[in-house]
Amino acid sequence: MPATAASLAQLHNHLLDTMTPPAIRSFDNQISSVPGIIKLTLGEPDFNVPEHVKQAAIKSIEANDSHYAQDVGKLELRQAIHDYLLDTRAVSYDVQSEIVVTDGATESLAAISYGLLNPGDKVLIPTPAFSLYFAQVKLAGAEPVMLDTSQDDFQLTPDHLKRALAEHGAAVKAIILNYPNNPTGRTFTKAEIDALVPILKESGLLVISDEIYSDLTYDQAHISFATQLPEQTLIVSGMSKSHAMTGYRLGYVAGPADIMKSVSQLHSYLVVSVNNATQAAGAEALNNGRDDAVKFKEAYQKRRDFIVAAMQKLGFTLATPQGAFYVFAKIPAQFGTDDFKFALDLAQKTAVGVIPGSVFGAGAEGYVRLSYAASDENIKESMRRLAEYMEKLA
Ligand SMILES: Cc1ncc(COP(=O)(O)O)c(C=O)c1O
Repeated sequence: MPATAASLAQLHNHLLDTMTPPAIRSFDNQISSVPGIIKLTLGEPDFNVPEHVKQAAIKSIEANDSHYAQDVGKLELRQAIHDYLLDTRAVSYDVQSEIVVTDGATESLAAISYGLLNPGDKVLIPTPAFSLYFAQVKLAGAEPVMLDTSQDDFQLTPDHLKRALAEHGAAVKAIILNYPNNPTGRTFTKAEIDALVPILKESGLLVISDEIYSDLTYDQAHISFATQLPEQTLIVSGMSKSHAMTGYRLGYVAGPADIMKSVSQLHSYLVVSVNNATQAAGAEALNNGRDDAVKFKEAYQKRRDFIVAAMQKLGFTLATPQGAFYVFAKIPAQFGTDDFKFALDLAQKTAVGVIPGSVFGAGAEGYVRLSYAASDENIKESMRRLAEYMEKLA
């Protein structure tokens, strides 16, 4: 292993000093060595990729489809994304200029932040929120402004949005809305969207609409802000969650051409193009595999109902998630409010891994997030261990 040159030991982008290391993964790593641990930590579906989707990737490799794809993605996949968004959001995006295929939704969000934001800009982020947003906005030199929704059942209200706009003024350039939400499982109803749309329209803000969990909405069909506000919304999504394709790394952004120009440019600088086998699999998933997501959703819904009932019985306060595959639960008062301490102790004493709420920003302290994208067996056993832990300490 080469020793670092002394002159380079401190070399790094100083913006990194303003952020913590990726908190979800570092906590997950920290507890991974606990013997026999059942991890309900990462948003990682336990299902295999559907067979016909795998075959599409294999066929692409066997056909020697091994050359650079177009930067924005293969036309077949962009057409499949177009069709899917038209069917589900009633918005028709131009396949040449309004859709970019990315290396997971993670790269979509990076290309948006670096391609569209400038130092001094502010971005509103209702919290609790997926912690990646804070880091990416900061790396673009902009400032994330957390809107703590914990007093409003974890939902952004029209009043809250108006107050934030009045307080932060013209520096606010965008808002990141994630629904169904990681970590709370909240999503927007039609009435809630209708109430926010006029304010967003008047503000002219860019709506960065992270809809990666849209196929996992349990109690209503997913509704997108893009349907009413196509001129100022960027849809971010992908197949990681809907088709259990986290390791394939496939995401996309869709939005108006003038905005997409810069997103597309950044994407070219960052990755050029996504690998061809993954793109072939993505096209198959969207063209012929929409039912796969429905089957996964039915399984998640049963797990959701089981885990919510089990945790409520143990004294956690939590609402039934409307979507995604997480429960976000308030730790019972007798265990204190230090969520890191609680999650670490739980891992060490009972070998159950959960994520401390604090990593999701303002309003998330004193909570833990559990992913139920785990096997039925692991969920049942983790609830048994959790009950044992709570009884011992109560
Ligand atoms: C809200 C949200 N957005 C984006 C992502 C990133 O997804 P991908 O695996 O497609 O990069 C995740 C992953 O957990 C997520 O929870």
